[in-house]
Amino acid sequence: MTTLRTIVYVSSATHKLSEAEMEALLLDAREANQRHGITGILLYGEGNFMQCFEGPPDAVALIYARIRASRQHHDLITLMDEASAERYFPDWYMGVTPASHSAQLELSSAQWQRLSRDASATAPPGMQLLQRFWQKLAR
Ligand SMILES: Cc1cc2nc3c(=O)[nH]c(=O)nc-3n(C[C@H](O)[C@H](O)[C@H](O)COP(=O)(O)O)c2cc1C
Repeated sequence: MTTLRTIVYVSSATHKLSEAEMEALLLDAREANQRHGITGILLYGEGNFMQCFEGPPDAVALIYARIRASRQHHDLITLMDEASAERYFPDWYMGVTPASHSAQLELSSAQWQRLSRDASATAPPGMQLLQRFWQKLAR
């Protein structure tokens, strides 16, 4: 049964966010995500963001509109936008980690399309890489 939608995008920061700006962004994002049943993770570093977020399709549409409206970044590119049967990051309203340019490059150039339309099929290679990247940090 398909009940969830997952989006992964990359974007460029409009300026180097201070620690206080990043904290304010996360506070705002986590509050909204919790209210709408959204989970996911955010990578940032060297002027770039990569974010994965997931939840009920209506909530994902609403949150993506919020994210797109933010003046803190621009040039959003959607890498993945798919129906999914399960959450990839169920424990995080928005986990966050710094990521080097090379790590972001490796992740963003991976394949993000599922080879099958079946939402319960194996996650795309990009998502598998992202999950491994996150699991390594969590230890
Ligand atoms: C990289 C990035 C990630 C964001 N992630 C989320 C999110 O997960 N959930 C959410 O509701 N808003 C998210 N936002 C939106 C912010 O929480 C906040 O609404 C926005 O940065 C305020 O934009 P403004 O400074 O242009 O008013 C994100 C914004 C940026 C730049």
